[in-house]
Amino acid sequence: MSSGLTTAAYLAAGALFILSLSGLSHPESARRGNLYGMVGMFVAIVATVSMTAVTNYALIAPAMIIGAAIGLVVARRVAMTAMPQLVAMLHSFVGLAAVLVGFATYLDPGVHHPGEVERTIHEIEIYLGVLIGALTFTGSVVAFGKLQGVIGSKPLIFPARHWLNLGLLLASIFAGYWFVGANPGLGLTMLLAMTMMALLFGVLMVVAIGGADMPVVISMLNSYSGWAAAATGFMLSNDLLIITGALVGSSGAILSYIMCRAMNRHFLSVIAGGFGATATSGGGDDGEQGEVEAISAEETAQLLLDADGVVIVPGYGMAVAQAQHSIAEITAKLKSRGVDVRFAIHPVAGRMPGHMNVLLAEARVPYDIVLEMDEINADFPGTDVVLVIGANDIVNPSAQTDPGSPIAGMPVLEVWNARTVVVMKRSMATGYAGVENPLFLRENTRMLFGDARATAEAIQGAL
Ligand code: TAP
Repeated sequence: MSSGLTTAAYLAAGALFILSLSGLSHPESARRGNLYGMVGMFVAIVATVSMTAVTNYALIAPAMIIGAAIGLVVARRVAMTAMPQLVAMLHSFVGLAAVLVGFATYLDPGVHHPGEVERTIHEIEIYLGVLIGALTFTGSVVAFGKLQGVIGSKPLIFPARHWLNLGLLLASIFAGYWFVGANPGLGLTMLLAMTMMALLFGVLMVVAIGGADMPVVISMLNSYSGWAAAATGFMLSNDLLIITGALVGSSGAILSYIMCRAMNRHFLSVIAGGFGATATSGGGDDGEQGEVEAISAEETAQLLLDADGVVIVPGYGMAVAQAQHSIAEITAKLKSRGVDVRFAIHPVAGRMPGHMNVLLAEARVPYDIVLEMDEINADFPGTDVVLVIGANDIVNPSAQTDPGSPIAGMPVLEVWNARTVVVMKRSMATGYAGVENPLFLRENTRMLFGDARATAEAIQGAL
């Protein structure tokens, strides 16, 4: 393929990626957005492998076939609840690729630079690419472990870690100073030393971030993986990789900002980590001294039928139980009886941004009754029944009442202001942040114990 044609294909792919991102910003256009992304990626791959510089098809073809086969199997098999782990793992691959490309480019004897300035720029590109790639790699691997439950969700804090991080940063800058313009032997040593430090920094950064702050970490690593890809693009002089990396990097950064705002946290304090490790209380001590009152599925059905207005709050447990289809049926039944049913979505409900919206869209719940936290929080006092399905942290009143709680200050859905709250979960266990929830002991709360799918089906049957 001629270079002109490649440029045109890259431009088309870049435009498709932008259309894809804009489509993904709303559930109604998300399918179309995905389609644009897929077509864009297809165009990008075909244009890249057809470039005149690409000749070694004997290696590229099997790699592509194996990669595509693995991708297909993983995508078909992965459960919706395991999607965040998969995304974290994919981010780690982008980081690792940036490291490998960085070393390969540095060691490639075929690369000649006409001038000193070009060489310096190229070496800075390599250094930054490997740095971002290495910390993205280990950071994402640790995030994967935390989301998978292999590593505990509590922040791992040790004394003087800020000094250690600062030391690593200064040492990396120092190694960079020696790396640029050095002879190959010294250059490689400096590059290796910095890689080790960046790998360690990635681990230290993410192990220190605990529980409820994980949404910010995921979007932050998403952003880093984009910048790592952009750095790879600079190293390989590939414009499309630079554009794509910048798109992922900046959209990840915007998402991190949105997540921070949703949780009322400052980005820097999230990165500094340790949130929740020094909490003075477990969060359950906001003066709530009630008893747990259980309710049956039949009684819940009756409550719902007697209500004028019902708000459903889905959480991670709905995703685990795959209860969204029964919930959609319940919604349809109640609506046909004239009950006003709406959904309240917390920005960090579940385990990934938009998790609940995806599940509700899959169950064909109409978009116009699915509302964001800010749109619905003021309506709870006028609501007859709130049905909380497998949600915990996002409806925890101690975020407002207990300054010592690990989730203090995080905006929550104020469901307790409704007349009756029915909480569907299996036990009195805590949620992801590991915080006791005094909502369960409130006078107007009823606990419907059991797997959310089984209890939702029982309510559906009773209706
Ligand atoms: P959680 O606070 O994690 O609570 C989920 C609840 O679902 C648990 O208490 C569990 O109680 C219940 N549950 C689990 N399986 C169930 C089943 N089969 N049937 C019924 N109930 C079940 O979830 P949330 O309220 O959605 O809050 C999200 C949390 O995850 C926040 O802390 C958030 O910061 C964090 N987080 C979010 C993200 C993103 S981006 N959304 C990413 C990482 C972390 P039982 O065990 O008693 O059933």
